[in-house]
Order: sequence, then structure tokens, then C-alpha cells
Amino acid sequence: MMATDEAYKPRPFLKWAGGKGQLLPELTAAVAEARKFKAYHEPFVGGGALFFALQGGGALAEKSVRLSDTNPRLIDLYLAIRDDVSGVIRHLKKHAAAHDETYYYATRAEIPKTSSARAARLLYLNRTCFNGLFRENSKGEFNVPMGRYKNPAICDEPKLRAASAALAQADIACRPFESVLDHAAKGDFVYFDPPYAPVSATAQFTSYHQDGFGTADQERLADVCAQLHRRKVKFLLSNSDVPLIRDLYKDFQVSQVFATRMVNSRADRRGKVAEVLVRNF
Ligand SMILES: C[S@@+](CC[C@H](N)C(=O)[O-])C[C@H]1O[C@@H](n2cnc3c(N)ncnc32)[C@H](O)[C@@H]1O
Repeated sequence: MMATDEAYKPRPFLKWAGGKGQLLPELTAAVAEARKFKAYHEPFVGGGALFFALQGGGALAEKSVRLSDTNPRLIDLYLAIRDDVSGVIRHLKKHAAAHDETYYYATRAEIPKTSSARAARLLYLNRTCFNGLFRENSKGEFNVPMGRYKNPAICDEPKLRAASAALAQADIACRPFESVLDHAAKGDFVYFDPPYAPVSATAQFTSYHQDGFGTADQERLADVCAQLHRRKVKFLLSNSDVPLIRDLYKDFQVSQVFATRMVNSRADRRGKVAEVLVRNF
């Protein structure tokens, strides 16, 4: 049987905290409304849900693309997928063949030396760990126990190859979001998906890795958006619907959207939460 084109559409290869899969219809519609733009920038790339959707839909054809994030393990992984996907797949197949509890904890304990082996380790742990989410503790360590999956899909070769092909056009770097100001020029488009402002004092959405993202960061981000606006760069931003965010972006168009998220630390407690999309076009 012929594989459908869908099998070769690029998609995120990591399950990532705050992944934007659910908001894709609203996000891609907003990008379509931006009509023409030159380069595409995504400075909080995470799992890259919007980048992959746009790339697969042809919206980024012939465009220069810059993806970045401050998580060095994540960027290391993106570079390995872009530059040596066959090497990553080779290592991942070994993990898939050897997977059991002892093997999981032995793999978790050791960080390999080569970039393709590190990438495969991260993908393997992401597929087999509890809750299937790559999340580090406050010391930057990955200490999630093994999940209880019957048949985890550890090596999805077509998905990895499609992602690698999609990333071939991208400049990928580990750097903070402000550096978008060094690269974005008039007519470009930037999508910002920062760690969300907390909805309540106990919400832990902001600890993606050792650097938290607090009110001062949200303020600096709003300032970067204002600078981009003056430069005639189009921007789209997602965040939680809280007074801080409404206030920081009051000069721009803010619309409300809803997504089902984990509403507290228990994975079985999910609920619809209000989020906002901010844009200047
Ligand atoms: C909400 S997630 C992005 C999710 C992504 N849109 C997706 O679909 O998976 C936020 C990302 O911001 C990154 N980050 C945190 N602080 C940052 C900073 N100061 N500059 C750039 N990236 C940062 C985190 O590592 C995380 O990957």
C-alpha cells in the first residue's frame, strides 16, 4: 500500500511542555492573515509545533528560518536531527531493541559523547519516561522514572526523516529571545511562545529547565515586541490570559483562545484554560 503524504508531513518529534499542537488551527489562521512576510523567526522553539505545521503546509517555502531556545539539550537535539538523522536513527534502533526497565535507568544515568547518541538518548527517554515529557529538575537533571507503556513507539523513522528535511532550511541556535532583535528586519514574522505567566501562585508552568521565566522576563519580552512593531516586523505571541499579559500588550490586538491543559501537577487533572494570542497585524 502506498503511504499517504500525511506520513511524510513534518511534525514535532518531542513531546514538550507547553506544546502548541492544540492551538494550531488558530495559530496557522493568524499566520495566514499576516499574508506576506520575509524571514520566519521562532525564538522559543520548544517542540516546534507551529514551525513544523507551517513548513509542512508550504508557508515557509524559500524563506529564511531562524529557530532558537535557551535549552542547550534541546538545541543539541535539533542540530543532530538536522545534520545527522541517520546516525540518530541508528542509535535509536539500538535503544528500541534493548528497552526494558534496567536499560532505561542505565541510559538515563549516562550522557553520551557524540551528538547523535545524545539525541537518540533524549528521544528514547522522552518516549519511554513517565508522562512522556522531557522535563529537567532545578539542577538541569533528567530524573523522571520509567513510564508504563505496553508498546512505546521509540523509533519513528519517517517522522524523524521528515523533521530533518524540514529543518534543513533552518538556522538553529541556543540563545535568549532578545537576540531576535539582532536578526529580525522589516517585513519579517516572529512567533513568540514563551513560558506562560502563571495563572496562580502555585502554577509550575514556568519551570521548563533551571532558568525560571518571571515577571521581569515577561516585561522584557513585551518591550522586544514593541521594538519589533516600530521596526515593522509582524509578531504573534501566545500566553496565558492573565491581567499582567493583558496589560503588557494593551496596545496590540489580543484575542482569547481555549486549550485543554494540565491544570495542576496531577496529570489526570485536565481542564480548559483561557489563553491569549497577541498580534500587531
Ligand atoms: C512554551 S515552550 C515553547 C513550546 C513550543 N511552542 C512547542 O510547540 O512545543 C517555551 C520554551 O521557551 C524556552 N525558554 C525559556 N526561557 C527562554 C529565554 N529566556 N529565551 C529563549 N527561550 C527560552 C524553554 O526552553 C521552552 O522550550
